Amino acid sequence: MSTQQALWLPGIGQDFVVGPREIDAPGPGELLVRIVSSGLNPLDWKLQDKPFIYVQSFPAVVGEEAAGTVEAIGDGVTDFKDGDRVFFQGHIGNRLCTFQQYCIVNADLVAKIPENISFDQAASVQVGIIPFAVGLYAQQPEGLAHLAPWEEGGKDKYAGRPIVIMGGTSSLGQYAIQLARLSGFSPIITTASLHNAELLSSLGATHVLDRRLSTTALKDAVAKITSAPITLAFDAISLPDTQQSALDIITGGGTLIIVSAQMVENKGDGKVIHAVFGSFHPLPNREMGKRFMPVLTQWLAEGTIKLNTVEVIPGGLNGIPSGLQRLKNNLVSGRKLVVHPWETA
Ligand SMILES: NC(=O)c1ccc[n+]([C@@H]2O[C@H](COP(=O)([O-])OP(=O)(O)OC[C@H]3O[C@@H](n4cnc5c(N)ncnc54)[C@H](OP(=O)(O)O)[C@@H]3O)[C@@H](O)[C@H]2O)c1
Repeated sequence: MSTQQALWLPGIGQDFVVGPREIDAPGPGELLVRIVSSGLNPLDWKLQDKPFIYVQSFPAVVGEEAAGTVEAIGDGVTDFKDGDRVFFQGHIGNRLCTFQQYCIVNADLVAKIPENISFDQAASVQVGIIPFAVGLYAQQPEGLAHLAPWEEGGKDKYAGRPIVIMGGTSSLGQYAIQLARLSGFSPIITTASLHNAELLSSLGATHVLDRRLSTTALKDAVAKITSAPITLAFDAISLPDTQQSALDIITGGGTLIIVSAQMVENKGDGKVIHAVFGSFHPLPNREMGKRFMPVLTQWLAEGTIKLNTVEVIPGGLNGIPSGLQRLKNNLVSGRKLVVHPWETA
């Protein structure tokens, strides 16, 4: 067992190609995981289109989240054993990315999969839930240093405080709604295609507004829902128009969390735009990640957090390029795409 199949990105603007890659040995504090299911994310097609910190050299393996079984254990790891079912967020570098059949993970930031959750479901969680968690609950400057709902005194801590979440149907949006619900925010106002309203209400959204409304119409609709100042918004889409709408909706002194580069002008009216890098791997977020992982396992086991609907793309690693194309063309609504790397022909 010295080589595996991986999906290689030869360079910017080039096509992905499946080919062999060595299997890495876990170093101290690391695990080698046999990947059963690997999640697709918009970042993966963006990495194909233009340079980004996530890829430091080519040819590159990308892929940001997966679920699988522990295959080998590095020195000093005591919490895991061979065969454990785990899910995790990938990280920068070919050995840590997830569009391959095996990858290395840092044992500190791995969560165990509860028995009631499938590998496919587990592969769809981490990239979706971590950006809101880091953006709102991590210490400054990474986050806004709010008390997280998994910490003592954190549940319902922000009761009665409104929040606006742009793009509630997106994977990030669905988890943001649920964390906001656990934190007690109310009302939780989100934008989406209205055929997804029932889903988002079931997750905790109190009001679902049509995402095609103009900024003025959105602002008016929010004002009819609550007279309280909107001091917090999370833009799970972060395109120029959603950033602009969210910025216009929050009041002076309010904060807008975005998940991409800032694309709008902040006119200096006391509003803060906070761009989040949704990862527990950077050192300042690591302790928080370590505390959150066991809680996430427990929440999934209890059904406290509902997972995205998952669609398995056939063809193993060969199925990824068509899936990424669907994400790029906005042809995926309310579901997460995953592949099974071991089905690669
Ligand atoms: N900063 C970070 O750390 C980080 C981490 C992960 C992802 N991201 C970024 O976060 C964004 C979302 O990723 P994702 O995986 O959650 O996306 P996704 O699940 O693929 O999002 C698809 C959904 O977005 C909704 N949508 C699209 N355009 C919209 C708009 N203008 N207004 C409201 N909703 C809209 C659609 O909802 P309807 O079907 O209801 O229309 C669609 O179902 C991507 O840009 C991604 O690159 C950032």
